[in-house]
Amino acid sequence: MMVNKMKMGFMLIVTCMGFLAPVHQAHLPSATISDLSFQNMGFAMNLYRKISSYNDKNIFFSPLSISTSFAALLMASDAETYEEILKALNLEQLEQADQPELIPTLFQLLHESITQNGSLELEQSMALFMRPQFEVEKVFQDQLKTFFEADIQRVDFADTKESIGFINEFIKNKTRDKVPEMISTLDPVTRLMLINTIFFQGSWQMPFNSNFTENAPFYVNNYNIVQVPMMFLEDKFYSWKDVPLGAKVLKLPYQEGVSMLILLPNKGVDYTVVDDGITAKKFLSWIKNLQKTKLEVQLPKFKMEESYSLQDILPDMGMKSIFSTSANLTKLTKEEGLKVSEVLHKAVIEVDEVGTTAAAATVIGITPYSLPMTFIVNRPFFFFIYHEATNCLLFMGRVIDPTNN
Ligand SMILES: *[C@@H]1O[C@H](CO)[C@@H](O)[C@H](O)[C@H]1NC(C)=O
Ligand SMILES: *[C@@H]1O[C@H](CO)[C@@H](O)[C@H](O)[C@H]1NC(C)=O
Ligand SMILES: *[C@@H]1O[C@H](CO)[C@@H](O)[C@H](O)[C@H]1NC(C)=O
Ligand SMILES: *[C@@H]1O[C@H](CO)[C@@H](O)[C@H](O)[C@H]1NC(C)=O
Repeated sequence: MMVNKMKMGFMLIVTCMGFLAPVHQAHLPSATISDLSFQNMGFAMNLYRKISSYNDKNIFFSPLSISTSFAALLMASDAETYEEILKALNLEQLEQADQPELIPTLFQLLHESITQNGSLELEQSMALFMRPQFEVEKVFQDQLKTFFEADIQRVDFADTKESIGFINEFIKNKTRDKVPEMISTLDPVTRLMLINTIFFQGSWQMPFNSNFTENAPFYVNNYNIVQVPMMFLEDKFYSWKDVPLGAKVLKLPYQEGVSMLILLPNKGVDYTVVDDGITAKKFLSWIKNLQKTKLEVQLPKFKMEESYSLQDILPDMGMKSIFSTSANLTKLTKEEGLKVSEVLHKAVIEVDEVGTTAAAATVIGITPYSLPMTFIVNRPFFFFIYHEATNCLLFMGRVIDPTNN
């Protein structure tokens, strides 16, 4: 009864959002999953622009995998570290002081809503690996399980070879072999690793006929023209011309309620100019304005595999303290002196006549920033015995083999 009531209330807010001021009730999320999607999209576009400012190569990543990973870390952090993650993820507007679990709840609802369609092949997973004896706060563990269905396991990171094999095998399995070699090195002092994976496989609603696929030129720029296998299809499609931006948009739907949206800068318009115009608001205006038209579509078959070390990019988006000695991870564990040392993201995609397969993984490594320094005299050494006040050298020697006297 209670549950029913809550569901109804939630639906009402979803459907009435446009007409009513937001209703603040104790047990109802005051924001919807559409709000979360919109904020996540803002984060995605910001991250895209940052990555794009670092390189002029192909780009491919899963914004959802990255924001979900950091939404989990958000619950482990406090004070400045918390505020910075919240801001970098573009989730500040969803923060409600009286609903501390609103953000993870929304992520959970979003995940359920995306994956509830049985015919849709979209899987997201979360795992927390921690080294033996490492103590994680109970509250954090429970939150990870409740909101992110996290798989929590012990891994002996000190045994690097074994652990790398295990972690890679885990990710390979979750991404159905699409991301087989996620990590090649591992810091043996790693305390904790947070792993998020996503896998998607979709078949085009209107598949391309491979009999029509043939090599055609692709104009990388004015000087560089390459030959690509170009797919061909003539049908009615949803499309739109964004005149102010100087680009056009095409929607290619898959069979299961997911679509690919292609944004093609007009001839002569530099893609770097369009880069700056890609925003969440723009995206929503594109999909709102789409109109069905008969079109001849030519799209190259392509395959990409991209990797990013996000610890180099995220501080540039304001997420600084978590990577430094001022990281506040007090909600993660009582152990002091931990920081995030590495955020690896790897994503692969394959687009062909039949559809698309895409997979990605995010790995966040947490290590101590101040290990007890060691001084192990286990090789030949020198020694000096001196009088402190006068610096008078009393004895000196060298030990090559302590057993040979
Ligand atoms: C983390 O933040 C909390 C809340 O502000 C504070 O009490 C605690 O001392 C901070 N811990 C560290 C290690 O900075
Ligand atoms: C891979 O995943 C499947 C379920 O998706 C599971 O049954 C199997 O044991 C996993 N294999 C490994 C090596 O983890
Ligand atoms: C492609 O061509 C072959 C041989 O002409 C034909 O048997 C096949 O049905 C064609 N495939 C499609 C999808 O039209
Ligand atoms: C589920 O998939 C079917 C196609 O298989 C689609 O028509 C339907 O809209 C999807 N439902 C949701 C809730 O996405």
